[in-house]
Amino acid sequence: MAMTSANGTDSDALLRVDTTAAYADVVAEGVARDRLDALARELEEVHATLTERRRGGLDAEYACLNLHDAMRGEVPAIQAEAVQIATFEDMLLIGIGGSNLGAMAAAQALAHGDRKRPGPRLHFLDNIDPDYLHDLLAALDPGRTAVLAISKSGGTIETATQYLIVRDWLHARLGRSRAREHQWIITDPVEGWLRRLANEEGLRALPVPPRVGGRYSVLTAVGLLPLAAVGVDVRALLDGAAANAARCESGDWRRNPALELAALYYLLDVERGKRLSILMPYVNALKLFGDWYRQLWAESLGKRRPDGSTAGTLPVTALGAVDQHSQLQMYLESPRDKFFTFIGLERWTHAVPIPLAEADARTFPYLQGKTLGDVIAAEFLATRRVIADYGHPNLTIHLPVLNAYTLGQLIDLYQRTTVYAGLLYGVNPLDQPAVESGKRLAVQHLQGR
Ligand code: PA5
Repeated sequence: MAMTSANGTDSDALLRVDTTAAYADVVAEGVARDRLDALARELEEVHATLTERRRGGLDAEYACLNLHDAMRGEVPAIQAEAVQIATFEDMLLIGIGGSNLGAMAAAQALAHGDRKRPGPRLHFLDNIDPDYLHDLLAALDPGRTAVLAISKSGGTIETATQYLIVRDWLHARLGRSRAREHQWIITDPVEGWLRRLANEEGLRALPVPPRVGGRYSVLTAVGLLPLAAVGVDVRALLDGAAANAARCESGDWRRNPALELAALYYLLDVERGKRLSILMPYVNALKLFGDWYRQLWAESLGKRRPDGSTAGTLPVTALGAVDQHSQLQMYLESPRDKFFTFIGLERWTHAVPIPLAEADARTFPYLQGKTLGDVIAAEFLATRRVIADYGHPNLTIHLPVLNAYTLGQLIDLYQRTTVYAGLLYGVNPLDQPAVESGKRLAVQHLQGR
């Protein structure tokens, strides 16, 4: 039975993963089906490991895969803060990497254009760009701006420096006491500079569960607070993640889409030499989802394996149909080291009919009675076909509609697939040693060392 939530999302709409063209019986350079059967025991073990490491809710090693349940109780508190933020005209979100990409992607998918609901305009401060920050602050009214500083560690240099400048801007215009009412901190519940500051200055602060790392944190306050403030149905987002988690409970790859995806990505890399993993949504609103996926995949899997070899495929993002006119030529005829994941949308909010006068219809007879939705669907099918005709394995994720419920499924699908893939490669999908040493070296440079 179709259930409709407060903002009109169909909560029974499940995404569909079509892996047909990833297999060698359809595209010769794909994976032979019996390779997955040969890997079945390992896949079961990997699934058992994931299940074991998920035990214990937010205390579990893989707490990030329990958020659809564990965060439910936090939603009322998050909503209460979001209601206050929603009274501002602008919201400045200061954070980088895992601390902003999820909110950025989900806001683009769910709170833009027709999906935009009343609420503040959202501005992101991630990269350090003095001119950008200067111009943004010059354009904003501090009296009407809410500021969210988001950092799991609570001390990342890009976030800390920009927050200090923004805080000073608030203090100068509003005074310390009023400025306090404009700030929200999201950080570790105990550790770090931001947490200390929040405690000392009496700032409102929401916790990031200690065992949940940045790139897996979009379903914590890191993503849920800003998203709720711009009108996203965050319960539907969690429901979507829960629906996907429920579809991934089996250790049999045939009955677990995330396990099958991880196995395919892994085998395409190690056995078929497909080292570039290209994600190509045919939906503008999912362009930044590509950036979120890129970070998740790269930081989780780009690591040395126990035997000294390297793991992980390079994630590349593209956008259909735009990149048909930019990247497709190279995709087709350059080295055969690529694997494609398409994301297609089955039902648009507005299909948009194409008005044809008689003379136009003589030039474009095939557009009679068609909508823009029909055109993008034809382009998507054509690209997928040509990719397969050139012998490149590919798979498609079909979204029935784009809403918080289906986006929640997509987020959970990729987080889960990434963790499975990490286990298959034998690397820790949750750490990021190279990123941490980069952070340390930047501080050393500032110290003149
Ligand atoms: O995924 C990760 O762990 C990283 O990308 C972090 O999110 C990023 O480095 C920002 O760290 P923090 O949230 O501690 O400021």
